[in-house]
Amino acid sequence: MTEKANVETSEAEIAVHMQEEAYFYPPRDFVAQANMTDESIYDRFSLDNFPNCFKEYADMLDWYEYWDEILDTSDAPCYKWFKGGKINASYNCIDRHLPKNKNKTAIHFVPELEEDAVQHITYQELYVRVNEMAALLRDFAGLKRGDRVTLHLPMSAELPITMLACARLGVIHSQVFGGFSGKAAGDRIEDSGSRVLITMDSYYRGGKLLDHKKKAEEAVAKAAEDGQVVDKVLIWQRYPGKYSAATPIVEGRDFMINDVLKDFYGVRVEPERMNAEDPLFLMYTSGTTGKPKGCQHGTGGYLAYVTGTSKYVQDIHPEDVYWCMADIGWITGHSYIVYGPLSLCASSVIYEGIPNYPDPGRPWRIAQNLDVNIFHTAPTAIRALRKIGPDEPAKYNYKFKHMTTVGEPIEPEVWKWYYKVVGKEKAAIVDTWWQTETGGFLCSTLPGISPMKPGSAGMAVPGIHPIILDDEGKELPRGAGKAGNICIQNPWPGMFQTIWGDRDRFVTNYFARYCKNPKSKDWRDWPYLTGDAAVEAPDGYYRILGRIDDVINVSGHRLGTKELESAALVVEEVAEAAVVPVKDDIKGVVPDLYVALKPGFDASDAIAKKIMDALISEIGPIAKPRKVWIVPDMPKTRSGKIMRRVLAALSNNNDVGDVMTLANPDVVELIKNQVQK
Ligand code: PRX
Repeated sequence: MTEKANVETSEAEIAVHMQEEAYFYPPRDFVAQANMTDESIYDRFSLDNFPNCFKEYADMLDWYEYWDEILDTSDAPCYKWFKGGKINASYNCIDRHLPKNKNKTAIHFVPELEEDAVQHITYQELYVRVNEMAALLRDFAGLKRGDRVTLHLPMSAELPITMLACARLGVIHSQVFGGFSGKAAGDRIEDSGSRVLITMDSYYRGGKLLDHKKKAEEAVAKAAEDGQVVDKVLIWQRYPGKYSAATPIVEGRDFMINDVLKDFYGVRVEPERMNAEDPLFLMYTSGTTGKPKGCQHGTGGYLAYVTGTSKYVQDIHPEDVYWCMADIGWITGHSYIVYGPLSLCASSVIYEGIPNYPDPGRPWRIAQNLDVNIFHTAPTAIRALRKIGPDEPAKYNYKFKHMTTVGEPIEPEVWKWYYKVVGKEKAAIVDTWWQTETGGFLCSTLPGISPMKPGSAGMAVPGIHPIILDDEGKELPRGAGKAGNICIQNPWPGMFQTIWGDRDRFVTNYFARYCKNPKSKDWRDWPYLTGDAAVEAPDGYYRILGRIDDVINVSGHRLGTKELESAALVVEEVAEAAVVPVKDDIKGVVPDLYVALKPGFDASDAIAKKIMDALISEIGPIAKPRKVWIVPDMPKTRSGKIMRRVLAALSNNNDVGDVMTLANPDVVELIKNQVQK
């Protein structure tokens, strides 16, 4: 043990100050129909049974050939799952369902304009369209197994059709979130070495038809600048047969997919028999440095993991109508809109637009009309809907059996609104903690087995074995209620295989910190660093405090920004809260608290004091912020995340940088006048 680790309380061990919440139990109706109610699953997936336990997930799939070795660690920490197995993801998500379910809806596509008809695509139709698109990609675009292709598509039925067509051929798809700029797409085209870009002419957002083709021009130009030539741009049309963008077509480079498809009507493409460890897709995510990382996900392991977790954690049955409101351009959409649900033969809803268009009742009308019974979204959306339409869910007659929250810690107050008002106290809720890198869930309750605890992700899911380490690498005792760096001890099939083209960065970013022996081929020497801080309560539930860098250390006390935000949200008038660190000569840093109020409330000193008092009474005087700023609105990204970076710059009198890409850039000036006067 190092000398530093001997000090009484190490940096990572300082207790967090949040109170444990009471349990909520899953409704009896839910448990009666749940896919997984057998507690012995945790024994089956214990470390003693690792890695063979994951056969249970792989056996949910159809294999051309079974594997010889379940886990090959010879190139640790780049693992190969189900080595020797042969499989195709497109076959598993489509073809295998046809004998019994060809007439079942695979995809409900809901256009943003309410007057536009919803499209219901059956598994048979999906089969036909994916085959024809695969034929086009192979014979017209010249793509073959192992090639990469960049997709920059909005939420549309054509997005999963294109992904599954790629998967059929063994072409590695790299979908870039449609809301990202052309430049961001260009960077990813270059990094992945794509010579084909697949895009769409336009799509609706907030009631406006946006020219998306414009971004393709920027993307191709940026890629060329960086040395990657795109020789074909394939364009889906938002309205098939009609080009709906102002940006002109470049002759010889741009092709309308619907025109070219005519040459491939009726063509069938035999799925490639992929090796289990062949890459299925790349998903870029941001790291601590500027350059995005292309997380490479494999075929057999990834598909097995998302199928198994969709079945047990999302509780998907083939007869369910499942709606995940995330964008397919994020990992959530890949795993839990496309691959997991379709592999289980569910009906998956894809919604084009924003949740509050044309009004905040929209999500609940969609749920009612399609009879959605599983609903999946993020705290950001929940907070927004709670703020702008708190009474809307009660007006609609839908019934959710299951709901998910993902992507950020959820404040208990917000969780309770989700449970009571959205779920009408009839749905089991899972709070799923995971990452782009992990492919699927790491922590979540199993909804048919464990009670829910607002604000806690729950225990690790079967087969995931976390440990919390302090800054010196010392393991905190289980259930200690102390904060530290949460790591996963063992590999799992959904885990990314490497960073595309940069194995060193993969090892350095995720393993180097706690690796016991860099030459080791034994997975036990390679704990995976998630980069999150977490606390394990005595009941084994994990609460995620946020990224390690989001933890604010005030006078040596470690405070999760989320803890403070949660406390502020207890105050009735508060709709949203964001905490940022402000440099302080004496205390190192102190928190600044920004809040936006619910409609109908005006900023006043009395409300600010009430919030300040709440922080002190919920957490203690240590949590007292330098200042409570009641602002007209939070600066937000287009995907709705609060831009804490901008608030931190304002609080610290730093340059806010470029804010023009925000959803509401004007609010920055208003806040600046308030804070920097
Ligand atoms: O900090 C954690 C937070 O989101 C990070 C991963 O972000 P991303 O790769 O974009 O994936 C989002 C979709 C899984 C994590 O490191 N995070 C994710 N889920 C939760 C969460 N924080 C708290 N609770 C969650 N349920």
